Amino acid sequence: MKREDWSEFARKLDWELSYVSEKDAFPEVQSGRPWLPGTAWTNWDEPFRTNYGEYVAQQHAKEASVEAVRAAVGRLEAYQRLPTSWLDGLKLHAAMLPLAEFAAVVGNLRAARFGRDSAWRSTAVFAALDEMRHTQIPLLLMHELVRWDPQFDWTHKLFHTNNWVAIAARHLCDELLLASDAIEFAIATNFVFETGFTNVQFVGLSSLAHDVGDQMFEKMVNSIQSDEARHSQMGAPVLAKIVEHDRRYAQYLLDKWFWRSWLLFAVVTGFSMDYLTPLEHRTSSFKEFMQEWVIDQYLRTLSDFGLERPWYWETFLEGLDHYHHMVYASAYSYRASVWFNFVVPGPEDRAWLREKYPSSWGKFDPVWERITRRWQASDPGNDFAVHGTAIVSFCDLCQLVLSNGTPDWNSANVLDRQGRRYIFCSRPCRWIFEQEPERYAAHKNVVNRVLTGEAPANLVALVQRYFGLEYETWGKDAFAGDYPWMERTRR
Ligand SMILES: [Fe+2]
Ligand SMILES: [Fe+2]
Ligand SMILES: [Zn+2]
Repeated sequence: MKREDWSEFARKLDWELSYVSEKDAFPEVQSGRPWLPGTAWTNWDEPFRTNYGEYVAQQHAKEASVEAVRAAVGRLEAYQRLPTSWLDGLKLHAAMLPLAEFAAVVGNLRAARFGRDSAWRSTAVFAALDEMRHTQIPLLLMHELVRWDPQFDWTHKLFHTNNWVAIAARHLCDELLLASDAIEFAIATNFVFETGFTNVQFVGLSSLAHDVGDQMFEKMVNSIQSDEARHSQMGAPVLAKIVEHDRRYAQYLLDKWFWRSWLLFAVVTGFSMDYLTPLEHRTSSFKEFMQEWVIDQYLRTLSDFGLERPWYWETFLEGLDHYHHMVYASAYSYRASVWFNFVVPGPEDRAWLREKYPSSWGKFDPVWERITRRWQASDPGNDFAVHGTAIVSFCDLCQLVLSNGTPDWNSANVLDRQGRRYIFCSRPCRWIFEQEPERYAAHKNVVNRVLTGEAPANLVALVQRYFGLEYETWGKDAFAGDYPWMERTRR
């Protein structure tokens, strides 16, 4: 038979239940709400159609082409030629990726069982297989580098630790990928995260990788993105159905997940694009990439669905000029608490940042001026002379440092609930918490864990005994504070 003679029939192959009810087979807790009868879902449609035979052939070709690039440029020597700070961005990216992708296998398998239409379920099976591949590729590629630099071991280790970044990443990934029902998963992961955001990380960052000469990274993310582009399309048809039956809930899920995704990408992608990619290889700023790859497209889709932009849109736009700069300066000051190294932006970087962020950079420049002066007065390599000592505070929703707002406006705010005081980095984080407090209230941030005695209060003890780091792996200044442009005062 020709493909067109059987494929429509195969993708919509389904049956009517005879001895269990639809509600028992597809309970709301797993399938999601609003719960609609199966007949309401029969026109579910995915624009890009595939079947198992085609899928296997395509994926095999992709694997072969990743393998060919790996054979050519995947050896240690090829990485050793790359700029130091780029490799630090790679350590950050590589550690955030594979185990989150593995959690996405679970989310997709839930949709493969509890999605309400047969074509949706089949597409989700392919997506689960995709995510397995996205777990394996970075683990395989980075493994080569562990013998050279033990920080690369965090590619696999991060999510198994209580490092503060891991706590924040798990708080997001566990909810997004493991705990979501099939409908929330489709809207949050397939629509907001994969359609909305992965482009900036995968397409934007891969163009920088091309410029830097990291062909292996470029190949890896392009190969992964080609899968994301296919399975992300499960989001729109689910969203359309929810908009039709419960517009408010659809709007809520979008607003919640856009904010949560934004904070994560601001850290992971923002650091790489505006600080860790060497200046001569930067093509656009993180903000410009966001405008091109996320904002324009997201707003267009919202209006296609007749939905509103999130209520916090102005806050978000202000954050584009501030948030990742705030977190980077904060993380630089606490670099021993993470598994990759940082750079101080030099005079040329700062001039570039001022040009790209004219409304905000004037507030950040003095921070780097001060850090520079501290280094000038310290010996190279004496990282703790230019480092914070007290433990910083974290948001009770996103679990990231309280670094929203701007250098002259602290956006942290508190909420008292059932005898406990919660603190949030921003109003949107607090708003998300207030929509589903029973979902979030029991979680302890790092400071709570210190106060209850689960984690040590001394910063170095916290880093070593709770965050899983040791001298060899904790973050340092990538140049030991010894930059060609940084003149040292003779002491
Ligand atoms: Fe993926
Ligand atoms: Fe995905
Ligand atoms: Zn927050």
